[in-house]
Amino acid sequence: MASTLTYDRSGLTSLAVGERGVSDASRASLSASLAAARSAVLDAHTRGDLGFLDLADLDPTPFTSWASTLDPDLTDQVVIGIGGSTLGAFAILETAGPSGAGGLRTHFAENMDPVTFSALVSSLDPATTLLVVITKSGTTVETMSKFWILYARFRDAIGDDVDAHVIAITDPERGSLRPLAMSRGWKTFSVPPNVGGRFSVLTPVGLVPLAAAGFDIAGLLDGARDARDAARDLPVDSNPALQAAADAHILYGQGVSIYVMMAYSDLLSGLVDWFRQLWAESLGKSTDRKGRAVHLGQTPVKALGVVDQHSQAQLYMEGPFDKVVALLEVASFPTDLTVPELDGFPESLSHLVGRGMSEILAAELRGTQLALADAQRPSCLWSFPDLSARSVGAFVMTWEFVTAVVGELWDIDAFDQPGVELGKRIAHGLLGREDLVDFAAGFSLASGEGSSLAIPRSE
Ligand code: PA5
Repeated sequence: MASTLTYDRSGLTSLAVGERGVSDASRASLSASLAAARSAVLDAHTRGDLGFLDLADLDPTPFTSWASTLDPDLTDQVVIGIGGSTLGAFAILETAGPSGAGGLRTHFAENMDPVTFSALVSSLDPATTLLVVITKSGTTVETMSKFWILYARFRDAIGDDVDAHVIAITDPERGSLRPLAMSRGWKTFSVPPNVGGRFSVLTPVGLVPLAAAGFDIAGLLDGARDARDAARDLPVDSNPALQAAADAHILYGQGVSIYVMMAYSDLLSGLVDWFRQLWAESLGKSTDRKGRAVHLGQTPVKALGVVDQHSQAQLYMEGPFDKVVALLEVASFPTDLTVPELDGFPESLSHLVGRGMSEILAAELRGTQLALADAQRPSCLWSFPDLSARSVGAFVMTWEFVTAVVGELWDIDAFDQPGVELGKRIAHGLLGREDLVDFAAGFSLASGEGSSLAIPRSE
């Protein structure tokens, strides 16, 4: 049977790694709770709370039609946002690339770094660049300040034409960006209120920049639908999303506090960043739904194969037994190179001659998987048949579902992020927001003698 994505959990079973793995008994005893967790997720969706599950049914046509009406003189777009507002589109575009002819070259302005942002600003031609500003809350300091720097530069260069170059994606009502967009006549798209930032890549947050880049958003949504239907309908025991949730939950209960995701392709690197945010912000919580202190969360760690075999693997193989390693494999790459037969190559390495890079990569991955098992370290394998939009869509939706189910198993709210609010409020106050100045002034770092240490510079 053809599949969009495969989850192979054999490397984390107790058969493979002994008592540090997931036993059949623990799996069986979780079965009823897993089914209940899935029902709770689906019920929340029926109540209208979890809009992310509807997104797989979106019609891509309004987005592709809009993209086809873009001014043909446009060559580039800058996507300005942070966290859930940019990580998804960046990851997807990096993985599967634009498929349509004539899409815009895409730049992401995510971080708040004066050096890299200045370099980006000076590389752009305002006459041919679209500014896509994305903030669901409409108040994010980093996004709005970077956007305003760009807007002013563009206005200086092209005058009032700038307003035809701005696309604003934000909440339909809340926040400061919506009224600003209305007052300037910018084209706007709405983020559905029942979809949180890190679950929003299949809303206009991701689909608008992806459509402008010429990306195959129909394929992306097909993959998301494959995954949503599988997660919703497949029996518990053969359901990749439910079993991945169960494995993470059981291993966490056995002291596995770190989930390493190791992508065996440069092109999957952004997808691991996207996963990292989803896993960390959704599941890192201090209290459960009853208000009890729980301090739960499994730290997501990003790794890249094969590079991190020569950097992190030693720790994974011999360090604390606190990790599960999820290997991301691509079965078929769009291109390959072969080690040539040419006089002079060392005899001891002659077995490499005639091997494709993808074949070598597959052997490296398999070697890591088997070595982890040999060291009694749980691992699992996510196989992408290819780097298509459809495979990526399936990965995204699967992990959103896994996250929601683990949230249920832990009885926490996986859709809020109270822990990041305090720092944001203090920053606003430090930057002079009137209602928060006194609030921010109430915080300080208690420090004593010897807290700050300097290296003297020799004359
Ligand atoms: O998942 C989330 O809600 C966050 O990561 C947000 O996406 C991020 O903080 C950006 O917020 P906003 O879109 O409101 O600017």
